[in-house]
Amino acid sequence: MPARLAVIIPVFREAANVAPLVARLDAALAGLAWEAVFVDDDSPDGTAAAARAIAATDPRIRCIRRIGRRGLASACTEGMLSVSAPFVAVMDGDLQHDEGILPAMLAAVEGGADIAIGSRHVAGGAAEGGFSAARGALSDGGARLARMLLPVKVADPMSGFFLLKRDVVEEVAPRLASRGFKILLDILLSARRALVVAEVPYSFRSRLAGESKLDATVLLEFAGLLLDKATGGAVPLRFLAFAAVGAVGLLVHMAALALLVGPLGFGPAQWVATFVAMTANFVLNNRITYRDARLRGPALWRGLVLFYLVCGIGAAANVGIAGLLVRDGVLAWGTAGAAGALITVVWNYAVSSTLVWRTR
Ligand code: GDD
Ligand code: MN
Repeated sequence: MPARLAVIIPVFREAANVAPLVARLDAALAGLAWEAVFVDDDSPDGTAAAARAIAATDPRIRCIRRIGRRGLASACTEGMLSVSAPFVAVMDGDLQHDEGILPAMLAAVEGGADIAIGSRHVAGGAAEGGFSAARGALSDGGARLARMLLPVKVADPMSGFFLLKRDVVEEVAPRLASRGFKILLDILLSARRALVVAEVPYSFRSRLAGESKLDATVLLEFAGLLLDKATGGAVPLRFLAFAAVGAVGLLVHMAALALLVGPLGFGPAQWVATFVAMTANFVLNNRITYRDARLRGPALWRGLVLFYLVCGIGAAANVGIAGLLVRDGVLAWGTAGAAGALITVVWNYAVSSTLVWRTR
C-alpha cells in the first residue's frame, strides 16, 4: 500500500536513537500506511548504517546519505521532496519530539489546515524538559522576533516538528533558503498566502543519547534568514557574511600590525599582519560563511593556499584599479580607495564561492 504519511527525520550523529525512534513510530502510527526517511549528513557514528540495517527488513524505512554537506534545513527539504505521500511530517531524530501526536496532526491537516505544528507553547504543551535555561531563553527571543514577521499567528514558530500537505511543500520549495536551522519558519514566510495553521500541543522531551547541534553560528543563520525574507532576498546572505568576516579581518590586520610594527618594522609587520588576517578570514569563512560546505582534512590546506592566492590577486586588483582611477583623475583618493576595496570583496567572494568552497 502506498504511504499516506511520510515522516522525514533529519539526523546527524544519532546512531543510538534510530532504532528506538522507528519502534516508537511503529507503535504511534499503527493502522496507518506510513514511511520514514532518515536524511543523514554522513555522520561519523554510523547513523546511516543504523537506518539501513532496519530498512533491510522494513520497506517503510529509507535513508538518504548526503556527502560533503551539512544543514538541518536542506536535509528536511530534500527529504520532503523525495517522497510521494500526500502528507509529510518532519521530526527530530533524537526522540525529543512526541511521535504520539502525529495522528492528531494528520487529522488537523486532513481536516483542512495547510500545516499542523507540534507546539510547546499552546495550552497542554511544554518546553521546560528539553532545553537548558540559556537555550530556552534563546529560543523564546527568536520566537518573539519571528512572530512579528509572520502573517499568521503561530505560538511556536521555532518548532522543528510539523506536518503538512505535500502540495504545499512542492509550492514553497523553490523559495526556501537552503541554509539554516529554521525550516518551519522559512516555509511559513515563503508561502505566497497565509497558510492555515493548526497547533497541536506536546511536551518537549529531553534528549536520550547524543547532543544538540545548535550553536552560536545557528543564531547568525537565523538572523540571516529573517533579513533575507525581510528584504525579499535582494542581497545574497552569503555575501553579507563574507563581507562581515572581511570587516573582522581588517580589525585583525590592524591589531597584528600594531603589535608587530615595533619589533619588526613596518614592511615585514605589514606582511605578517596580512597573512594573519587572511588566515583568520579563511577560518571564519570556513566556519560561518561556508559552513554547509566546510573544508576539513587535506582539503582544508588546499583551500587555505587557494584562498591566499585569491586574496592576493584581489589585493593587487584593488591597488591597481584604485591607482588608475586616481591617476586619471576619475575619483578622489577616498572614493577610489573605497571602490577598489569593494571590487576586491566582490572578487574574493565570487572566486571563493566557486573555487575555494565550490558552492556553485
Ligand atoms: N541531516 C542533518 N544535518 N541533521 C541535522 C543537522 C545537520 O546538519 N543538524 C542537526 N540535525 C538533526 C539532529 O540529529 C536532530 O535529529 C535534529 O536535526 C535536531 O537537532 P538538535 O541538535 O537536536 O536540535 P535541538 O534539539 O537543539 O533543536 C530542535 O528542536 C527544537 C524544538 O522543536 C530543532 O528542531 C529546533 O529547530 C527546534 O526549535
Ligand atoms: Mn534535539
